[in-house]
Order: sequence, then structure tokens, then C-alpha cells
Amino acid sequence: MNKSGVKPAEGKLGVLTVGLGAVSTTFITGVLMTRKGLAKPVGSMTQYDIIRVGEGEDEKYLKYNQIVPLANLNDIVFGAWDVYPANAYESATNAEVLKEKDIEPVKDELVKIVPMKAAFDKNYAKRLEGNNVKDCKTRWDMVQELKKDIQNFKKANNCARVVVLWAASTEVYVPVDEKVHGTLAALEAAMKADDREHIAPSMCYAYAALTEGAPFIMGAPNTTVDIPAMWELAEKVKLPIAGKDFKTGQTLVKSGFAPILGVRCLGLSGWFSTNILGNRDGLVLDEPANFRTKEVSKLSTLESILVPEKQPDLYTDYYHKVRINYYPPRNDNKEGWDNIDIFGWMGYPMQIKINFLCRDSILAAPLCLDLVLLSDLAARAGRYGIQRFLSFFLKSPMHDYTKNEVPVNNLFEQYVMLKNAIREMGGYKADQRID
Ligand SMILES: NC(=O)c1ccc[n+]([C@@H]2O[C@H](COP(=O)([O-])OP(=O)(O)OC[C@H]3O[C@@H](n4cnc5c(N)ncnc54)[C@H](O)[C@@H]3O)[C@@H](O)[C@H]2O)c1
Repeated sequence: MNKSGVKPAEGKLGVLTVGLGAVSTTFITGVLMTRKGLAKPVGSMTQYDIIRVGEGEDEKYLKYNQIVPLANLNDIVFGAWDVYPANAYESATNAEVLKEKDIEPVKDELVKIVPMKAAFDKNYAKRLEGNNVKDCKTRWDMVQELKKDIQNFKKANNCARVVVLWAASTEVYVPVDEKVHGTLAALEAAMKADDREHIAPSMCYAYAALTEGAPFIMGAPNTTVDIPAMWELAEKVKLPIAGKDFKTGQTLVKSGFAPILGVRCLGLSGWFSTNILGNRDGLVLDEPANFRTKEVSKLSTLESILVPEKQPDLYTDYYHKVRINYYPPRNDNKEGWDNIDIFGWMGYPMQIKINFLCRDSILAAPLCLDLVLLSDLAARAGRYGIQRFLSFFLKSPMHDYTKNEVPVNNLFEQYVMLKNAIREMGGYKADQRID
């Protein structure tokens, strides 16, 4: 135990990804290559960021693993579920994110990561045709099968701990229904009654993970753990949950750029964001019901940064539009355009254009690593329920909306929350100083 009571990161850490597509395989391959000293985990806060700790003469800047006991990359064992049977090597090759030279050196390890059968319902992602799917009669059966998978994986790989990370396709939009999602008892009853309308497969993964002692992270915008029933479960089993939706490209830019307008008191009349992408994620999001889930998540970013109630002259009725267009030639190399219509002194209009030629999975992979390592850390620190300090990594950060909590979307406020959580878990004092 360290001085603030965090348990050490002893033994193997199992990382089970739901989905073995572009993001997961880029994440896994990068970790394996880093372990061999053949790649650098660029973009990962846990591997690179330094934080100021201590006061006065004791003030110093340390890396995360010098402040808190993080799991070592060498101790990670990977496993996955997917609707398609391709192993991690085949899937990484098919995804065409990484070059052959960055995959081949870890081929032997990747080939061994063969996806377990998915808990899947085609109604939640119509464009997927894979047949590596569990044959479950009810949602409750799905939960039981997934629990067995986690137990078997843990045993077979001699893992001390497991974290489950959803990096699977975005499901169709499931609005929160108080009657089903409001309490744990109602959620369990709905699973047993096989209520397929309100219980998404992702909820079965989350329920199975938490009841098997594994923190659960939602990397897509799915409702899944963003419901009071799952918060209740996380509190009951005393495990952390985090979500939703990796904050990678356009929304990262938005949550970092919008504060510029806010702090300079410039007005906003409209923000139009559009992008083209051609990977399987783009294919799934081409389906309107799946895009709706993403749209809700992407739209939420500005509202808590540029708040009309606080600055009615500047931020009332700005028009915020988000578009994703499936365009196969670009594959994983997403291009995003932002057109921002602002106004200044005496209301005179101006425009800002941002054109981000990014790589979706290259941006998402370090977030996977950070979310996994920090969720595992939080569990060992005895933190449970919604982990708000992980908002930094997420497009649509979870918060208790039943208590009128407001999400924190401003990247720099999120960064302060992240640093302070690390400081506290390291036995140092939190503070608000900017550095
Ligand atoms: N890359 C980014 O920048 C980014 C940012 C935010 C969120 N995301 C989200 O991350 C997720 C993964 O993205 P990707 O590019 O890897 O997509 P992908 O399509 O390459 O991979 C997703 C995989 O999930 C599998 N899958 C779908 N439903 C499943 C289920 N119920 N159980 C098991 N497997 C299932 C699919 O078969 C597919 O192989 C998507 O939901 C995407 O919206 C990605």
C-alpha cells in the first residue's frame, strides 16, 4: 500500500476488449510493440505526462507511475470478444491502420488473441454480418455466458485483476427509461424478462464485468453504464465505471478550442462540424439509429462550456450541427472540418475554420491504455461509481444527472480533475494552480 492506501499493482492485469476492430487492435499492437521497445506510446498521459506535486522546497514534477502504483505494461494480458472470428493479427491487418512493419514483430502474440463469441443482437448494429455470436435465449443468459468467459479468461491467464473495455461498434440509441434503467432491481428484472428493447447487449457486458469484479469502461457513446441502475451496481460492488465515447479528434479540438471563445468573451452564432471516414465504425454510423447515439454525444460538448444562461448576449441560440459521412476511400484516416461563426465588438461577424486530418484509431489507442490503467488504479484505490476524473478522455462524460450534476467538458478543467485525482491517490494535496 502507498501512503494514501492504494493497493500495489501486483500480478497480471487482464484487459478484455469488447470488439476486436480498428481501435482495439491498434491499442493492443501498440502496447505489445512498446513492450518490445519497438514503438513509443505517444499520446498516452500515463506514459508521458508529468504532474507537479508537493509544496515549497518539496515541489517536483513526476510521471504518473512515480506518484501512484500503475500496472506495468509487461503485466497486461489481452483478450477480446467479437462478432467476427478474425484473430487480432488478421483484424489489425484488415483494419489497415498500422503498416505491416508495425504489426509483424508481434504477430506471434497477436495470432493468439482469438475473440470469444460475442453477446450480440443484430437489431443493435444492423450492418454487421459476423457469426462469431453466442446463442443466448435471453439477455440474462448473455450475462451468465459473459460471466463465465471472464472467469475462464482470468483463470487461464492467471490474472490478479481484469478490466473490461468496450471498443465495439456504436449501438442504436437507447433512451433512458426510468422504469427499466432507474434501479438495479428493475434492470435485473428486465434482463430476466428478456426485454430486448431496453437492454442493449452492451449492458450485459457491463453487468457481467462489474459482478465479476472488473471495472467497466464505455468507449462508444452507448447508454450502457450511463443509467442509475448501473451506478447502483457499481456502488454495490464497489467498482469504478467510466464513459462515454473516446474523446479523440474533432471533439478534442472542440473542447480545447471553445474555452478560447469563452475566456475572451467572444460570441458564437454557429458551429458546424462535419467529417468523412471510411472504416467499419463509419459504416455502422451510416445507419441513422446508430448515428443518433453518436450525435447526442458529440452535441453535448459545447453546452457546458459556452453556457447561454451565464452569457446570454454571447451564447444564446447558437446553432450547433454535427455530421458524420461514411466515405470508404479514407478508411481510418478521418478528415474533420469545423466552421465556427463567431462575433466580436458590436456584433461584427468573423469565421474560424479548422481542418483536422487525423487518424481515428491512432488517437483512440492511447486513450484505451490510459482509461484501462487508470480504472485499474482507481479500483485499487477503493474508488467506485462514476469516475469523473476520467472525463478528460471522454466526449460525453458521465455525471449524476438525477442530482442535476453538470458534466465538465472544458478540456482544461478536465485536466485539473485528472491531475488532482492522481495527486490525491499519490497522497499529495489537490490544487488549482495552472502549469
Ligand atoms: N476511433 C475513434 O476515434 C473513436 C472515438 C470515439 C469512439 N469510438 C468508438 O469506438 C468503437 C470502436 O471503433 P472501431 O473503429 O474500432 O470500430 P470497428 O468497427 O473497427 O470495431 C468494432 C468491432 O466491434 C465488434 N462488435 C460490435 N458489436 C459487438 C458486440 N456486441 N460484442 C462484441 N463485438 C462487437 C464489431 O464486429 C467490430 O469488429 C466504436 O463504437 C466507435 O464509435 C472510436
